[in-house]
Amino acid sequence: MNTNKYFIDRQDNFESSARSYPRKFPIAIAKAKGSWVEDVEGNRYIDFLNGAGTLALGHNDDEVNQALVDMIQSGAPLHALDLSTPAKDRFVETLFSILPKEFAANAKVQFCSPSGTDATDAAIKLCKTATGRGNIIAFSGGYHGMSHGGMALTGNLTSKKKVANVMPGVQFMPYPYSYRCPMGLGGEAGTKACISYFERLLKDPESGIVRPAAVILEPIQGEGGVIPAPVEFLQAVRRITKELGIPMICDEIQCGMGRSGKVFAFEHAGIIPDVVLISKALGGSQPMSVIVYNKDLDKWEAGAHAGTFRGNQLAMVAGTVMMKRISDPKFLADVTRKGEYMMTRLNKLKGEVSIIGDVRGKGLMTGIEFIDPNGPKDVMGVPEPCGTVAARVQQLCFKYGLIMEKGGRNGSVMRCLCALNIPDEDLDKALSIFEKAVREVDADV
Ligand SMILES: Cc1ncc(COP(=O)(O)O)c(C=O)c1O
Repeated sequence: MNTNKYFIDRQDNFESSARSYPRKFPIAIAKAKGSWVEDVEGNRYIDFLNGAGTLALGHNDDEVNQALVDMIQSGAPLHALDLSTPAKDRFVETLFSILPKEFAANAKVQFCSPSGTDATDAAIKLCKTATGRGNIIAFSGGYHGMSHGGMALTGNLTSKKKVANVMPGVQFMPYPYSYRCPMGLGGEAGTKACISYFERLLKDPESGIVRPAAVILEPIQGEGGVIPAPVEFLQAVRRITKELGIPMICDEIQCGMGRSGKVFAFEHAGIIPDVVLISKALGGSQPMSVIVYNKDLDKWEAGAHAGTFRGNQLAMVAGTVMMKRISDPKFLADVTRKGEYMMTRLNKLKGEVSIIGDVRGKGLMTGIEFIDPNGPKDVMGVPEPCGTVAARVQQLCFKYGLIMEKGGRNGSVMRCLCALNIPDEDLDKALSIFEKAVREVDADV
């Protein structure tokens, strides 16, 4: 009975056909600690999927778990809707202490139902209410969740095209993606063209685009293929939205909480957005999502974004521990060091094989884009993204003990979302497995 097959067969029987990860990783996980998981048959894997980037401190961190145990034994409420509790007060105080000072001084927080996509919906409602406008600008390649609102703002068409009538009033703009530049230019010229297009469309009285209620973007796109926005792009979007009185929403659900080497990825550009979406790592392994926003937008009424599960006290104590740890400058410097080490090794690998088109990222949010070197090329002469090559690499990694997710165009990008405190030796092991898998596939294309 203690076989992966036993549990997977039962899962197939009972669970919805919308399940996704078990199709790629057909195991039942029995134990997990740090960067490692162990299945019911005793096979061990390094976990670069890591709850889709949720576990900033890895699985079952001792300090987080102790805080959870203490909370459970303390007699404090574990559920409190949006009522005040000492645990919530400590959480909010800690959250405000890790925001840029200028932002915190003028910020309010709204607790959302615990998924990231509800933070997206909350932010949209907040900005529509405050501005009285109805449209939203999002970016190609962006991912903001799977609710009707989140999906409407998401670039990927696979799930969207099956669901009629998602939230109307969304206008997509090009996001700078140097390797596959939407403007056909790449590099700095591509970024400039994206800025110019964005600015002209918002300012041109003949553009056909009415002033939106908000502009939403990920400072580093995650699901879209790990694409960091150039600093000058983020600064330009901030400048233009400010000039036009359009709230700028930064979705930090994946790239926030230390993953980029700063607490928030927008800090790399030295900007202050109007609204920040935070989830995933925020609850220190427990479900939690919030939006933090400029007080000036706080125009909605009591109950405007209600939800039963906004008072997850366990997430508040676990999240408080996590925020204190990841915001330590030494911790963040170590994320940057490990990210740079990883980049160096991956770039070296890229130079030695033909199937890697691009390596990119920031901190411990890294993407490796695969191509078929013999396949068709796009109009810029760059080989098309190749999901089948990435899938072969992913399956070999899994066979050799590394769990790693894909994303990007046609699933062509392998993505590292490892624990931020991953020990060097585990990082080395994971990279060695990855390199071995890539070389094997490379020898066979
Ligand atoms: C940037 C971003 N926004 C929103 C979401 C949606 O979060 P959730 O899956 O918790 O609804 C995700 C999830 O991957 C994300 O990466």
